[in-house]
Order: sequence, then C-alpha cells, then structure tokens
Amino acid sequence: MDKTYLSCLAEFGIGGAHPGGLQLTKKLLTDERFDENTVVLDVGCGTGQTAAYLAKEFECQVIAIDNNPLMVEKAKERFVNLQKEINIEVADVQRLSFEKGSIDVILSESVLSFTDPTISIPEITRVLKENGRLFAIEMVLELPLNAEGRREISEFYGLGQIWTVEEWRRAFLASGLAVESIEVPDLEANSHDSETATDFSLSESIDEAFYDILSKHFVLTENYKDHLGVRIFKCMK
Ligand SMILES: C[S@@+](CC[C@H](N)C(=O)[O-])C[C@H]1O[C@@H](n2cnc3c(N)ncnc32)[C@H](O)[C@@H]1O
Repeated sequence: MDKTYLSCLAEFGIGGAHPGGLQLTKKLLTDERFDENTVVLDVGCGTGQTAAYLAKEFECQVIAIDNNPLMVEKAKERFVNLQKEINIEVADVQRLSFEKGSIDVILSESVLSFTDPTISIPEITRVLKENGRLFAIEMVLELPLNAEGRREISEFYGLGQIWTVEEWRRAFLASGLAVESIEVPDLEANSHDSETATDFSLSESIDEAFYDILSKHFVLTENYKDHLGVRIFKCMK
C-alpha cells in the first residue's frame, strides 16, 4: 500500500478533507438553487461528506467520484442510510465517463491540485452543460517558494504544480470557462465546527507510518502558512 498523504487521508477516513471543511461547503452553496433535474457531480469526493450533505439538503441528483477505492468504499458506507441514492464510482477526474455537456454543477474541493490541472480542468469543462458551473476550492501559492520549499511540498503532497491565483485563473480561461469570482475563504470562522471535527471513518488497523504522515502535514502547514493559501474559484461554462 502506498504511504502517501492522500492514502493517509483515506486510512483515517477524514471527512471534509478540504480547507474550511463542511462549514465552508455549506457557505459556498448557501445561495444555490437546485431542483430535481439539476445534476451535481462531486469530483474527488473523499468519504462523501459533501455528497451526503447535497443529497440531504438539496433537491438535486448527486453523483460522486474518487480515484481512491478506499475513499469510495467509506463513502458508500456513509450513503447506506440516506433516503436518496447517490451514484458513486471509482474514477479519475482526468478521464470522466460522463457525456459531453451532461452535468450542471461540479464541485471540486481540494482535488485539482492533486491532478494535472491542464488535463482535469478541460475534462471538467467537457462534461459541463452550457452555463454549467464549477466550484473549486484550491491551494494557491501566495508568496514565491525557494526550490527546497517547492520540492518539499510537491513531494510530500504529490503535486505536479503549485499555482498562483493568476495561474489557476488562466487555466480556467484557457479551457473555456469564465471565472465569475475568486474568493479568499474565512477559514478561522469555520475552524470550530464540531460536526466536521468528529467526521472520521478509521480503517481497522492503521500503520504507524500514517500517523507520521499526518504529523508532517501539520508541520508543513505551519511552516508554509505564509506561502500557501486557499481560494474559492467560481466558474461558468
Ligand atoms: C484533500 S482530499 C479532498 C476530499 C474531499 N473533496 C473532501 O473535501 O473531503 C483529495 C481527494 O481527491 C482525490 N483525488 C486525487 N486525485 C484524483 C483524481 N485524479 N481523480 C479523482 N479523485 C482524485 C483523492 O483520492 C482524495 O479523496
């Protein structure tokens, strides 16, 4: 089994594994009006916290994908008691099986950074309907990093790139999306949420190495807090 940051998240089954957690997701969706015909796809759904929230709170059709089978297994366990069925499968956001122009809304909560966004963003754009929307919560480079810092972060998180806001904006535009807004989330306001704090789906026995990975994540987060930030990109096709 790979001992990577992403496999660590899967072992601990961390729900709301994006900055701001479910509270930020709720805020992001506050003004959205979906109906029973609206198809919402959560790419890189992790353990399915956001997909379950969508199914409970919105009159929409929910689809979820993640390329990590353990994440999908844990999401399926979460979905068992829901009233509404969620269509979920193991899949790569860089190669979606959905028809061109078939999805109304795509949520990507801390996922694109872990992919090659020059592939995943055009793929998302392909499956979106005309006027369909993408909400992406992504890590951004706030201040230049030296080569050592860039290497440490890229290797630990398995990133091919660490993009500035402007680089993300250009990638969305290049794939044919209009960038409607770019917001800095208030992560402090979302940090005391008991609902997300308790959302774990632990594997039966967790290798020591995964605890070390989690600790290193907290160290890196602190060490690079001035260099790395988060943005919410709202885009329309
Ligand atoms: C930081 S976690 C966020 C999970 C979830 N969106 C959340 O907020 O809890 C990143 C997720 O993206 C998934 N992922 C990474 N690369 C992917 C890809 N190419 N296709 C689909 N999912 C991917 C990982 O397996 C992981 O579940």
